[in-house]
Amino acid sequence: MATTFKEKTVYQIYPKSFLDTTGNGIGDLNGIRKKLPYLADLGVEMLWLNPFYPSPQKDNGYDISDYTAIDPLFGTMDDFEALVKEAKAYGIGLMLDMVLNHVSTKHEWFQKALAGDKHYQDYFFIQDEITDWQSKFGGNAWSQFGDTGKYYLHLFDKTQADLCWRNPDVRNELFGVVNFWIEKGVEGFRFDVINLIGKDEILKSNPVNEGKPEYTDKPLTHDYLRELNEKTFGRHSHLVTVGEMSSTTIENCLLYTKPERKELSMTFNFHHLKVDYENGQKWTKKPFDFEALKTLFHNWGEQMSDGNGWNALFWNNHDQPRALNRFVDAKNYRVEGAKMLAAAIHLNRGTPYVYMGEEIGMLDPDYDDMSQYVDVESLNAYEAMLKDGLFGNAAFEIIQSKSRDNSRIPMQWDETAHAGFTTGTPWLAAGKTYPSINVEEEIRSGSIHAFYKQLIKLRKELPLVARGTYAAYLAGNPNVYGFTREHQGEKLLVLNNFYPVSAPMDIPEDFSKGAILVSNTGRDSLGDTVTLKPYETLAIHLKNE
Ligand code: GLC
Repeated sequence: MATTFKEKTVYQIYPKSFLDTTGNGIGDLNGIRKKLPYLADLGVEMLWLNPFYPSPQKDNGYDISDYTAIDPLFGTMDDFEALVKEAKAYGIGLMLDMVLNHVSTKHEWFQKALAGDKHYQDYFFIQDEITDWQSKFGGNAWSQFGDTGKYYLHLFDKTQADLCWRNPDVRNELFGVVNFWIEKGVEGFRFDVINLIGKDEILKSNPVNEGKPEYTDKPLTHDYLRELNEKTFGRHSHLVTVGEMSSTTIENCLLYTKPERKELSMTFNFHHLKVDYENGQKWTKKPFDFEALKTLFHNWGEQMSDGNGWNALFWNNHDQPRALNRFVDAKNYRVEGAKMLAAAIHLNRGTPYVYMGEEIGMLDPDYDDMSQYVDVESLNAYEAMLKDGLFGNAAFEIIQSKSRDNSRIPMQWDETAHAGFTTGTPWLAAGKTYPSINVEEEIRSGSIHAFYKQLIKLRKELPLVARGTYAAYLAGNPNVYGFTREHQGEKLLVLNNFYPVSAPMDIPEDFSKGAILVSNTGRDSLGDTVTLKPYETLAIHLKNE
């Protein structure tokens, strides 16, 4: 039986860093084709590919200058079509990244607007007066529109101009883009910062939270998503969709994902990845707050379960430093910690995403020098921190632990130069650990990869894992994140120790007679109590009598 988005695991590929087959230092579509057997063996059924469309690459492809072509850096449309076909033969669908909130200022629409074409000026927010909104990459969110004396809105880099979804012509153009890729045979879409598209007719200043309340999760966003659904992917029931939601709420994510609303299959939110921010600020360094993490997981887990919404579950992506570096004592417990983090989301309610390299326990690159970083957000943040009076070293350490480049480094395939990613010079240097942490070595002698395979398989085979309800368990425990799942009388108890210390606890009576479904310690028997080892994960299955 074909799986739905509830049984599937999605694997995220950052094409630029996956595998280079031409020697130009940049990963390409043919690199992905080459690794399809590896991905099929892992068991994933959908590949989310970050943007590979023509782009000036100011924001690594999230500044698109042509929505319906392939940037020659990554290959050709023939390569893409071959990839779709070959992936399908392995039972794998492609999920494309749709960046529909903004376009590159090099896109034809913006260029025509700049040249004075009124029709295209209406595609953007161009006005005489600006608001106090901050760009997410630093500075004010408005820049001068040519020499007209007016300003255009860009919530991200100044080369990423926000599109005006109020204009029906804009919506129709974008629906056309989505349908173009559906016709090419893709089976899913990830919609970039899609909860920012519903902007008011009159944009207002707001000093709260850098202006975010003025443009985030506006009711209009839901209307636009329903229209997008109706005119594009909603016409094909097998398509899987996920919305990236910036600073969102549970209430809104329920609306975005309840099936009867006909908006999206699921949503990403980022609250759990801000628990190591000092006062909500990213460019700071502090240990993660376990209480906050646990509470977020429980609130989202329970409320999405009770309200029939659906979460996308993830620890890593191309915008985040590696979770192993953030939530685990990776120096001493990399293997145990990698498995515990995996079980905590793969046995959870929602669709799990694996970011390339996570399945072999990859770590941040630990660069020595600021010159090794290329990400626009990191470079801007470094300058801003120096301006704010931070010393170079302190600012550098923050970049080292928070930069988006941490996850964008080349995939570590083997121990040869540049981790086997390229025969040329990689666009971003490989991390230091590749001689010991790489796919070849992991498959030969490691155990993280095999553990991921087990989890991915369980979701396909056990409706309890894919569809069970979610409830918090032992919410007050200071070390352990625990939850239960239930489906048609079957139950699952999942316990995850987030610390390098032992954690003694009681096992509820019925579960003490259950079967161990998953363990990262080789545990093979149960009693009324259990003492979890450092970073232990334990899942106990109670079958229907
Ligand atoms: C999303 C992407 C990020 C990009 C931003 C602007 O957050 O994940 O990489 O910079 O949108 O498109």
